[in-house]
Amino acid sequence: MSFEPSVITIDGPAASGKSSVARLVAQRRGAIYVNTGNMYRAMTWAVLQTGIDPHNAEAVRLAAEGITLQSPVVDGQTQVAVNGHTLSQDDLNSDPVNRGVSLVARVPEVRARLVADQRALADLGPLVMEGRDIGSVVFPDSPLKFYIDASEEVRSARRRAQGHTDQVAERDRLDSTRKTSPLVVPDGAIVIDNSHLTLEGAVQAVLDALPASPLT
Ligand code: DC
Repeated sequence: MSFEPSVITIDGPAASGKSSVARLVAQRRGAIYVNTGNMYRAMTWAVLQTGIDPHNAEAVRLAAEGITLQSPVVDGQTQVAVNGHTLSQDDLNSDPVNRGVSLVARVPEVRARLVADQRALADLGPLVMEGRDIGSVVFPDSPLKFYIDASEEVRSARRRAQGHTDQVAERDRLDSTRKTSPLVVPDGAIVIDNSHLTLEGAVQAVLDALPASPLT
């Protein structure tokens, strides 16, 4: 008998608060938390190490072929490792990675690889997976889809409070207008406006919409 665990998908724009919400929902439902943005960030970090310009999509495609990415699960959430080296939050959130990640993430071959890796994680058990295309492309058949939004003003303020100076509006523009798997509200997703909710309020809004039984 095939075992098909549930995947809760959470998509949304940069700094909408979806990572904090997804992590807590996963903890409370006993699921593995997967931050797919970190997978694109790890690929970007590794591509930048090769010294190529991330604006050059063909060079990114070629560089990515030589990069091995792993997503080991530690303490209920996936980490990201490049060629066996686990990356820190500082590596993943550095300014060069913030500037380059949307350029690397628009390359179709990079996306195809990471989407395959993301689907394979479902073999490990129930997941809460967050990103930009999880409900639309990675797990379009999931019955448990969310889209967490917040105003641009609130999102920019959140990034500044986290000590980042990147332009979320520019990243959103690239993520929403790229040809392959742009950021969209997935069909059937419940939209939560997180502009004025507390973290607990947003977590509760997701939990309230889920079936009562634990994920199987
Ligand atoms: O969630 P984040 O801001 O850390 O994501 C970083 C970038 O990765 C984001 O600007 C777009 C890209 N991304 C993507 O294209 N698809 C995903 N599923 C997750 C992230």
